[in-house]
Amino acid sequence: MLQIEGIEAGYGAVQVLRKLSLTASAGEVLCVMGRNGAGKSTMLKTIVGQVPVTTGTITLDGTRIDTLPAHEVPRHGIGYVPQGRRLFGDLTVAENIEVGLMTRARGPRVRDHVLDLFPRLRERMGQMSRTLSGGEQQMLAIARALCLEPKVLLLDEPTEGLQPSMIALIRDTVVALKETGVATILVEQRVDAALSVADRIAFMSGGTVMETQDAAGLGAASEQFATYVGI
Ligand SMILES: Nc1ncnc2c1ncn2[C@@H]1O[C@H](COP(=O)(O)OP(=O)(O)O)[C@@H](O)[C@H]1O
Ligand SMILES: [Mg+2]
Repeated sequence: MLQIEGIEAGYGAVQVLRKLSLTASAGEVLCVMGRNGAGKSTMLKTIVGQVPVTTGTITLDGTRIDTLPAHEVPRHGIGYVPQGRRLFGDLTVAENIEVGLMTRARGPRVRDHVLDLFPRLRERMGQMSRTLSGGEQQMLAIARALCLEPKVLLLDEPTEGLQPSMIALIRDTVVALKETGVATILVEQRVDAALSVADRIAFMSGGTVMETQDAAGLGAASEQFATYVGI
């Protein structure tokens, strides 16, 4: 479904991603792990066109997306929840949802489905998003991405700083999405969390994917976690 081949990318003269290749398939949860500065967030920003590719290709179902302007990428079915949440704070919950729906011209059926996943948002439709709790804001950011009916969902450390009940809810949502055929790329720092939800884990270091392993063959004591995550 999503295929990244030999990409290089960075910020101006600073190259961050080096010959990075990765694939994600329908119905798969691919966790991306690596130390701070490994390039995890930069990889996601590159997939959505916020950081330009200088070499290599990114294709979605065979269509090149690395050549698209950033605003076109969501229309091809890539949902993105950046690290640290970025909502339209002066918009209500309902308006944020509406922005998501408009991106791919989705309607009430999709809105109802998304709100069924996050009933708490339904109770707060008229509330300004900046007044939501951290966990509720993250729910809204995910809900807005799901309003695209994405083929690929990119989540950058979605549970960072959240309380356990919210972490569990986000985990359950990711698991439920598997059934619908979405390919999820999840940047996750906690080993237990990654092992509990991932089909495969990609380990990043120095701006590239060093190794990709089936999660079933890994345990908390596997050397990859010590080598690439540092625990
Ligand atoms: N906006 C930026 N401008 C310049 N360098 C950046 C920018 N964002 C990140 N970097 C650099 O890119 C590298 C990778 O960062 P990042 O992708 O955020 O890593 P990770 O998400 O794995 O912690 C780091 O060296 C970081 O300093
Ligand atoms: Mg990051």
